[in-house]
Amino acid sequence: MQTQQIQSLIRKAASARRQAYAPYSKFNVGAALLTSTGRIFSGCNVENASYGMTLCAERAAVAAAVSAGYQQFKAIVIVGGRRTPPYPCGACLQVLAEFCRPDCLIILAAGARPAAIQTCRLKDLLPKTFKLTRK
Ligand code: THU
Repeated sequence: MQTQQIQSLIRKAASARRQAYAPYSKFNVGAALLTSTGRIFSGCNVENASYGMTLCAERAAVAAAVSAGYQQFKAIVIVGGRRTPPYPCGACLQVLAEFCRPDCLIILAAGARPAAIQTCRLKDLLPKTFKLTRK
């Protein structure tokens, strides 16, 4: 992926992060998802007083894209945290695995220093994926 495209995704994720609703954890996260056709969809985390109902930024971005008719993604940028890279949680990895190939890029940018990014692939973070086998 071109640096310019990554920078644009980081800007979109950072902008989504500003909409985060995280009064409980104060941990604001934004995500920007690149579809295989070049469209970008973003999302932020949406917390709830009933903590378990919290929606992560990655899953909000996936829901936005799927709701608009896009189901294939080639990269996701996640901006969050303070200093350390905001690795996606296990639930979000499983949701990404539903729509992404194992080589899908996962680009992490710490909120306090968006210049410092870390790039990995879905298969690095979720080497074995649960799949339903049909009879
Ligand atoms: N969070 C995300 O948005 N994405 C993740 O992959 C991990 C965690 C959010 C959920 C919650 O609002 C806050 O970060 C603290 O867990």
